[in-house]
Amino acid sequence: MERDAASKGRASPPVPVRFAHESEEEFAHILDFYGDTWEYEPRSFVLREEEGRVLEAFTPDFYLSDLDLYIELTTLKQSLVTEKHRKLRLCRERYPDVQVKLLHRSDYLSLLAKYGFGPFSEIEVAGIHNVLISASELERRVGELGARISRDYKGREPLLIGVLRGVTCFMADLIRHISLPLSIDFMAISSYEGDRSGAVRIVKDLEEPLAGRHVLVIEDIVDTGMTLNTLLQDLRLRQPASLMVCALLDKRARRLVDMPLEYVGFEVPDEFVVGYGLDFRQKFRNLPFIATLSQDWLKVNLGTQRGPE
Ligand code: IMP
Ligand code: MG
Repeated sequence: MERDAASKGRASPPVPVRFAHESEEEFAHILDFYGDTWEYEPRSFVLREEEGRVLEAFTPDFYLSDLDLYIELTTLKQSLVTEKHRKLRLCRERYPDVQVKLLHRSDYLSLLAKYGFGPFSEIEVAGIHNVLISASELERRVGELGARISRDYKGREPLLIGVLRGVTCFMADLIRHISLPLSIDFMAISSYEGDRSGAVRIVKDLEEPLAGRHVLVIEDIVDTGMTLNTLLQDLRLRQPASLMVCALLDKRARRLVDMPLEYVGFEVPDEFVVGYGLDFRQKFRNLPFIATLSQDWLKVNLGTQRGPE
């Protein structure tokens, strides 16, 4: 799969890997789908040796560098499972810093099912093309943003303003990484129907006064910049002590109105993205990752209705 450099794309091995088992190949597809970096059998751990001769070694099937974790896949065949548990125990004794997990096929299939996906072969589902930013990448980046905000606003008590509804997941995670006293408030805006000027109107206003406060606007995604621009103009009139912006995603290629974004999670390519709060016609907000929609699905679903906006 091709990835935009700015999307922090992680490459899977460039050369096709020869898998020993079908289940390993299936698991690799799942990792690709979720956007996790993997290596196949990159390292063997010596378990027993005698006079420099290796008597027994253990080679886990996968290494996931994002998680610094080795994965050994296993079937339900009890004799094999027992043997693998023994090797795993030896490995943990000799290499206490190395993380290895045993994973049953049923475990990772239920992982998929949890997010509404069937076994990989049926993944046509729901219009998702692939994962652009995985859950673990989101978690790490949101943590970094929270730490930066905590440093930058030290000694102050910021007021974080979330723009509904796309911001819900981001806001909820971000505030838990800010180690300062803070307040939150929300507003909702919508584009004027049938109006192509890009004008927006406030449909739910703030409850907190802004005068003299250090205000940080939290946005899910900045696309053309029209929404944010109107919003900032409105907020500035309320005379906050400072006014800055933190956007999870920056679709810079489509910007019409430019403005400084003090904090940005990820730059994303010019594609419609969903998940982690972002929707397409109210769907997909509950995906724990950011994904692109499949073109085929979009073609069918755009029909005569209004497109993504
Ligand atoms: P802008 O006014 O063009 O910058 O649009 C910003 C708003 O449009 C965001 O707050 C989102 O609600 C929505 N939006 C823009 N691009 C996307 C996308 O790729 N997925 C989901 N919503 C989007
Ligand atoms: Mg929005």
